[in-house]
Amino acid sequence: MDVIDAIRNRHSVRAFLPEPVDRETLNAVFETAARSPSWANSQPWEVFAATGGALERIREGYRSRYDSKSPTAPETPPPKVWTEAAKKRQQQLYPDMLRDCGESVEQFGTLNQSLFGAPAVVYICMDKTLSEWSLYDIGAYSQSLMLAALGKGLGAIQAITLTMFPDIVRRELSIPENLKITIGIAIGYPDKGNKINSFVSARSPLEETVHIFE
Ligand SMILES: Cc1cc2nc3c(=O)[nH]c(=O)nc-3n(C[C@H](O)[C@H](O)[C@H](O)COP(=O)(O)O)c2cc1C
Repeated sequence: MDVIDAIRNRHSVRAFLPEPVDRETLNAVFETAARSPSWANSQPWEVFAATGGALERIREGYRSRYDSKSPTAPETPPPKVWTEAAKKRQQQLYPDMLRDCGESVEQFGTLNQSLFGAPAVVYICMDKTLSEWSLYDIGAYSQSLMLAALGKGLGAIQAITLTMFPDIVRRELSIPENLKITIGIAIGYPDKGNKINSFVSARSPLEETVHIFE
């Protein structure tokens, strides 16, 4: 797949088939993602992948926390303030989804809470002492990982909901105390029968975000 096609074709996949992703394929994705740029090649990412029984125990733990309405506590908390422009774009997302996906959008919360039914969830961590520059590197790594997954016929989504109950994830994946969980990425074979996966989110016109001078 051509690089432009890969970037243009990537989109968030929110429903997966239960079919597992084999270790060799996962490793190939991680090998490719590791080619991402980082500050002075510091490669701040530390990756913990949950598959099989470990992932099912995390999923079950999440289910029981949601059932008991336990408070969520992501280690990279969601922002409290957004610009007006960002708010406007976010507010457009859900009507767009509803229009294009109909009833499947009602499953949005359930899909999030069930870790999208993914057979693999990758938690990207970094040392707590690192700065926001390393978070920039983690962002680059995340995009590379999702594109590498696409190249292997897989779908992916990065989602804060995957990180809602970090104590469960930490316990199951033995994540050391010095690391912070920055984001989770669910990976698997897309459930093409679920309309939510055919949704393509809009982008602002170029003039809104790009300013070229000569
Ligand atoms: C840091 C981050 C966190 C996100 N968290 C969620 C989430 O919790 N649930 C979800 O359904 N999508 C989540 N998304 C996916 C975005 O909604 C999605 O990337 C955006 O709407 C653009 O759509 P696209 O990825 O299909 O191009 C997240 C994306 C990013 C970058």
